[in-house]
Amino acid sequence: MAEEIIVSESEDKASKYESLVPQIMALIQDEPNRIANQANLVAALKTAMDYFWVGFYKVAGDELVLGPFQGPVACTRIARGSGVCGAVWEKKETIIVPDVDKFPGHIACSSESKSEIVVPVIRDNEVVYVLDVDSTTQDDFNQTDKIWLEKLLKMAEEYL
Ligand code: SME
Repeated sequence: MAEEIIVSESEDKASKYESLVPQIMALIQDEPNRIANQANLVAALKTAMDYFWVGFYKVAGDELVLGPFQGPVACTRIARGSGVCGAVWEKKETIIVPDVDKFPGHIACSSESKSEIVVPVIRDNEVVYVLDVDSTTQDDFNQTDKIWLEKLLKMAEEYL
């Protein structure tokens, strides 16, 4: 197993993801424990991309429940349809929020979070988790993040 994630500081975002994704796959694909793999995936993303908060919420009945994450403590449960995470669960689609104050119903776990992207993890056509990534800078996420995070989660889904 790799002991550290290596991504050059000088690289642009797409190049960082390009070198990061195979490292994450190498980290998780021989490990059968889903929680261990979720934990390493969020740690790798936080380390390489320097986001403020990165974490999973797991679908459990009619709620999302906080899973492995990196960053400050966060809201534990989110109802279906609530906040950005609940909306992504309902729509089964990634949502990019350039300014959290302009997203109706946004749930502020931290006042420091200014923009976010939430990506669903889909198994057998059902959302099983959402991955939430927060930044302290407005407008920090774009189509590059959407493309790469969706690609990563599609590749990683069977190990999560
Ligand atoms: N902002 C999210 C809640 C989760 S925290 O940001 C970690 C939302 O509106 O669903």
